[in-house]
Amino acid sequence: MNKSLSVKIKNILLKTPLLTSSGTSGSKDEINFLQNRKKILESLGAFVTKGVSINKSLGNKEPRIVEVRSGILNSIGLQNKGVRKFFKEDVPELRKYKIPIIVNISASTISEFGELADIIKIRDENNAISGLEINVSCPNIKKGGAAFGADPQLVEQVVKEIKSKVQDSFCIITKLSPNVTDITQIAKAAINGGTDALSMINTLKGMAIDINNMKPILGNQTGGLSGPCIKPVGLYMVYECFRKIPECKRKEIPIIGIGGVSNFNDAMEYILAGATAVGIGTQWFINNTIFEEIYKELTEYLSKNNQTAYNLIGKANID
Ligand SMILES: Cc1cc2nc3c(=O)[nH]c(=O)nc-3n(C[C@H](O)[C@H](O)[C@H](O)COP(=O)(O)O)c2cc1C
Repeated sequence: MNKSLSVKIKNILLKTPLLTSSGTSGSKDEINFLQNRKKILESLGAFVTKGVSINKSLGNKEPRIVEVRSGILNSIGLQNKGVRKFFKEDVPELRKYKIPIIVNISASTISEFGELADIIKIRDENNAISGLEINVSCPNIKKGGAAFGADPQLVEQVVKEIKSKVQDSFCIITKLSPNVTDITQIAKAAINGGTDALSMINTLKGMAIDINNMKPILGNQTGGLSGPCIKPVGLYMVYECFRKIPECKRKEIPIIGIGGVSNFNDAMEYILAGATAVGIGTQWFINNTIFEEIYKELTEYLSKNNQTAYNLIGKANID
């Protein structure tokens, strides 16, 4: 292990600060692609799965992805096979790669989040799972479909409920939505609820219209924007949380920076803004050597500057 690259997300030791971001690397089928790609596996610190829910979900009506300037809009709608099948089919495959597995979880009520966490704890007999990433961008059916992530009280309750079920069995990461007025308020609520780490950002709400048929392009009408165009937003949100939240600044609550990372420079900017690790999503659809490219440049940069990734976290923060 190259010590200058390794970082910790609470108790999860990452050999590099690079992670897949949820939903963009799928699970079993896509990771099988990694089988012959030793270099990607060398450069990955952990694998973050697609969102998993208690029951199977078919997702939204097609079309579900549309390319826009400098990014994509998606309305996949949390399609997945359900947690039981996930444990039967995907977890055994994912374990083969010997990198930490972080399971992204989605639910539509607080108690359902708790139930899902409970099922994962029971099914994880081999201690294959290192962390749970809570997707608080899920619509809350009890609150008329508004996302949990926009309401600090709900975020705190969701985290508390999950923590009460799993205690310290998994590192709990709360994935924040950028579709809020002040992300630091939501981050603080997650910390009050007992989160071990934060990840940010999920997609920004957006849409595209076909001017010929005069209708929204996505089957769901609206979707989530990701890719290079959202990087300045994600970077700002990481910077704000690192700067304004003492637990983040002291690196007690690590931040996983996500949003539009397309090259080494972008990843480095996130680290300097305050991220301990960096998630890469949309760019992986375009360039399947992105992880190894960033890994190589990061290794060279740290060695040239006689630095460690850990030391550079939040270095760009000016008080
Ligand atoms: C096709 C697609 C599916 C996604 N699915 C999930 C998901 O299941 N859970 C989640 O928390 N985020 C999901 N996301 C959000 C990404 O993990 C990430 O936060 C976002 O795309 C920004 O990063 P990027 O610009 O590098 O893609 C998804 C994004 C895309 C593009």
